[in-house]
Amino acid sequence: MNTVSAEKAAALCIGNNIISGFFSKPVKKDLPIQKIKLRKIVLKNQEQYQLEIFEGTKAFHKNILPQNLQKELESFFWDFKIAEFSSSKNWLIFLQNNKGLIHFKTKAVKKENHPNKADVSSTEIFEHNKQKEYILSTSEMPIFLKKLNFFTDEGKIIQSKYHKFRQINKYLEFIKSVLPELKDLLKEKKELQIADFGCGKAYLSFALYYYLTEIESLPVKICGLDLKEDVIDFCNNLSKECGFKNLVFKAGDIGRFNFDKDPDMVISLHACDTATDLVIAKAIKSNTKIIFAVPCCQHELNTQIRKNKDKVIKSFSPMLDYGIITEKFASLLTDTIRGKLLESEGYRVSVEEFIETEHTPKNILIKAVKLDDNSKTKTVLIEKAKEEFKEIKQAFLIEPCLEKLLNGN
Ligand SMILES: C[S@@+](CC[C@H](N)C(=O)[O-])C[C@H]1O[C@@H](n2cnc3c(N)ncnc32)[C@H](O)[C@@H]1O
Repeated sequence: MNTVSAEKAAALCIGNNIISGFFSKPVKKDLPIQKIKLRKIVLKNQEQYQLEIFEGTKAFHKNILPQNLQKELESFFWDFKIAEFSSSKNWLIFLQNNKGLIHFKTKAVKKENHPNKADVSSTEIFEHNKQKEYILSTSEMPIFLKKLNFFTDEGKIIQSKYHKFRQINKYLEFIKSVLPELKDLLKEKKELQIADFGCGKAYLSFALYYYLTEIESLPVKICGLDLKEDVIDFCNNLSKECGFKNLVFKAGDIGRFNFDKDPDMVISLHACDTATDLVIAKAIKSNTKIIFAVPCCQHELNTQIRKNKDKVIKSFSPMLDYGIITEKFASLLTDTIRGKLLESEGYRVSVEEFIETEHTPKNILIKAVKLDDNSKTKTVLIEKAKEEFKEIKQAFLIEPCLEKLLNGN
C-alpha cells in the first residue's frame, strides 16, 4: 500500500475517471455526516457527479460539475477514514489511519464483479436519459423511493420495482392533467384534502405527496387508508422519517371510513374487486370534486352474468359460451357501469388506458371530475347516463355493487 496526501488521493480519483464510490467512517465523531455516496450521472446532456449525503435519518443530494469535483473530494478525504471508488477498469481503495495517513491500493475490476455489472459509463448514461421524461426522475432520487427499495446503492432501479416505478409515474401524469382544477380549489381553501384508498405500501401516496408539495408547491394533506395495520404502521413511520408532516395513514375499511374534512380528490390504485366500488361510492357521497380509480380484478358481474346466461339478450349470449370472454366482458361492463353511475351523479368521466397492456392487464383508469352546478350540460348528461344505465341493467340482468352502495344498501 502507498501513502498519499488528500490532494493526491483526489487527483487519483480524477485521473482514473471514477464512476461511483463512497466515503464512510468520519474521522471526527461529531461530524453530522455519516456517509457520502457518489455516482456519475448525465443531466441535461451534461456529465455531472451526484453526491448523496447521509445526515442522521435524512439524505441530501448535491450535483457537482466535473471541473469542481477534485476540490470537493479533497476535503472529504480529510474528513473520512474509508473511501472506495470504481472506474470502468479499477477499484481505488483509501484507508486513513489514526495518525491521518491515507493508504492507497488499487485493484483491477473484473467485469462480473463490477457494481454495475456491465459497461458502466454507457449504462449509467442510458438509465438517466431513459428516465428523464418521468415526473419522478432517478436523477433526483427522492429519499422515499430509496427507502421503499426502488433503487440499488448505486442509484439504479431494482428490476422488480421497475413496473411499479412506471405505474406511479404514469398515475402522476394523470394527476398533472387536473392541476388547473386543484389550483382552482385552492382559491377557496388553505390546503387540499386527498385520500388514497387501499393504499397498501403507499408508493402512490408518497409519490403524490412528493409531486404536489415538492414539485408543484401545493399545500396538501394526504391520508392513505388500508385494512392492514402493520402496513399502515410501516407507512406512518416512513412518512415521519421523510419529514412528510401532512402525509398520514390510517387503518380501516373504506366503506366505514369517515373523513375529518370532505376530500377534494380521492384516488385508488388496484383496489381489488368491489373495493373500487367502495372507493367511488365513498367519494361521490363525500362530494369529492376529482376521482381517479384504476380498478383491479373483477368478479362480481362475471358471476351474475353467468347465472343469467340464458336470459340475457339473445345477440349477446354466444359471448357467454367462452369463459375467458365472459370474464373480460364482465370486467369491461363493470367499468362502463362505474362510468355511467358517475355521470348520473354529475361527473364528467373519461376512461383511459392507464399503462400498456404488456405491463399489466389492469390497465384502465377512470377519471371523474365533478361538473359545476352552473354547467349547461350537467342535467342532460345526468339524464342520459341514468337512462343508459337502466338499459344496460335490464339487458344483462345485473345488480351492480356500486348502484347498491349509492342507494345506501
Ligand atoms: C392490490 S393492493 C394495491 C395497493 C396499492 N394501492 C398499490 O397499488 O401498490 C390492494 C389494497 O387494497 C386494500 N383493501 C382492499 N379492500 C379494502 C377495504 N375495504 N378497505 C381498505 N383497504 C382495502 C388491501 O389491503 C390492499 O393493500
